[in-house]
Amino acid sequence: MKKILIGLCIVGAVSYNVSAIAAGKMHQHKFNKHLDKALRPIVSSLGLTGDPLLNRDVPDISSPQAQLGMELFFSKSLGGDRDSACVTCHHPLLGGGDRLSLPIGVESDTPDLLGQGRTNADAENHAGFPPVPRNAPTTFNVIAWDKFQFHDGRVESLNPQQGANGKAGGIRTPNSAFGDADPLAGGNLVQAQARFPVTSREEMKSFSHNSYSDQDIREFLAARLAGYEGPQIVDENGNNVTDTVPLPETAHWIEKFRRVFNEPDTQLEALVTEQRVSMLIGEYERSQAFGNTPWKRYVEGDNRAISADAKRGAILFYTSDMQGGANCSSCHSGDFFTDESFHNLAMPQVGEGKGNGDDGSKDFGRARETVLEQDKFAFRTPSLVNVEVTGPWSHAGAYDSLEAVIKHHSNAAHAIDSFDESQLLVENVTNLDKMRANTLEALNAPNFELEALNLSDMQVGFLVEFIQSLTDPCVKDRDCLAQWIPANDDDLNGDQLNAIGEDLR
Ligand code: HEC
Ligand code: HEC
Repeated sequence: MKKILIGLCIVGAVSYNVSAIAAGKMHQHKFNKHLDKALRPIVSSLGLTGDPLLNRDVPDISSPQAQLGMELFFSKSLGGDRDSACVTCHHPLLGGGDRLSLPIGVESDTPDLLGQGRTNADAENHAGFPPVPRNAPTTFNVIAWDKFQFHDGRVESLNPQQGANGKAGGIRTPNSAFGDADPLAGGNLVQAQARFPVTSREEMKSFSHNSYSDQDIREFLAARLAGYEGPQIVDENGNNVTDTVPLPETAHWIEKFRRVFNEPDTQLEALVTEQRVSMLIGEYERSQAFGNTPWKRYVEGDNRAISADAKRGAILFYTSDMQGGANCSSCHSGDFFTDESFHNLAMPQVGEGKGNGDDGSKDFGRARETVLEQDKFAFRTPSLVNVEVTGPWSHAGAYDSLEAVIKHHSNAAHAIDSFDESQLLVENVTNLDKMRANTLEALNAPNFELEALNLSDMQVGFLVEFIQSLTDPCVKDRDCLAQWIPANDDDLNGDQLNAIGEDLR
């Protein structure tokens, strides 16, 4: 008996067949070792460490800079009309996002209500969709990106180095020409990114501050925090439209900045600057580093850290389609599970679009930046670390389950054909015909990348189980996340967004 078992193991290890391994749950116990025999060589041949944060200099959330950054991140004082904050679309208890397909920023009917139930009556004027055309990605682990921020990479490190988070070399942003460094981008990709939401009319700037240029609104907001005179704004008719409504709690901000920068006497203009505001917010975001996953423990040697089905999923994930696998790691590669590159997967083009195409209803993705045909409809490969908690998924939040998003990868044409609109977490959608036509255009474009894998439901289940092993338990634990959320009674600046809503319970 013993002999036979050993024999089976050896045969299995030498010529294991991925679909056979992934075919069933039979003999859970024996198969488990067999699975490790198949998976361990893959892990070592790829040189995986399991740690998406290896060699990264993560700021401590209790540091004074991250603490003040947190206060800014949660403050509606950075919204032009003081009705939208960073946290509006990136709440730690909502997976670092907003749990909506498409976000609602300014002019929400209830500004502090986040997640499901957040509405803005004005959506009807925007093809039935909220005016923000893309899904809000998570702020968790933004410190682990080395090349790009945003779905289309419009904030980009010009000298990407592993572990640097864009620190080395220049950073290109929408304020500089493609390929050129923005001299005001700041010290890393996350700071560079943090300077843009405040410039977006729909996200934070507000319609009433629309005459402010990108740099003017940043300087205006910093000036308003500390109560000094900011830029003078003239609208297209030549009228001075500078907002002169003061904030109630400038003294609080001034005192905080003085303490954090240890500058008791500096002039306000040099103390509270837009560069410092974005740097502080960036430090808070960069402290949201969650990479302690069961998969990491497995890679480090603990065979019991993940389930047998997760191992089946991992084998599928890392095996090419030629060998009967699902080929996921060809794009979701390395310990952060992304190649930081762009691909057209024809994920449904939900939303009112980014103004591309004849009628403006399309979103050309990366091609908006590179103007290359081959980048049309291509979006950055998302990381899969903690992806379990960051739904709804895809660049426009089209899918509300991991099963559905994997089935799209498995057979995109079928997924688009049978797309269930009821899963969209937006209300009263009206332009579904266009959405379908635009999605089919992406599917039929020459750069569409996916081979039909036609995975069985069971295989999809294994992949889901594997992906769930990429979740750091902290991101599902209110107590653990509490450090990244200011206490409700701490509202010292008068504009703190204390979120309410079903999803936050
Ligand atoms: C109204 C919702 C909304 C608000 C408010 C908002 N964001 Fe976002 N955020 C988004 C959306 C949508 C994207 C993706 C946009 C794109 O890729 O075109 C995004 C992208 C990001 C990213 C990029 C993450 C990545 O993986 O590349 C970061 C970081 C981020 N936001 C931080 C912030 C900060 C900091 C603030 C406040 C200064 C903020 N956001 C305010 C919706 C919002
Ligand atoms: C050709 C490259 C490529 C391959 C192969 C690939 N993916 Fe993706 N994946 C992407 C891109 C790009 C996106 C985002 C597409 C979009 O939003 O339009 C994505 C999105 C996802 C998402 C949603 C993430 C989010 O935050 O919204 C999951 C989950 C996912 N992929 C899992 C998988 C699995 C499992 C496999 C193997 C079956 C796989 N991927 C194979 C490139 C790829």
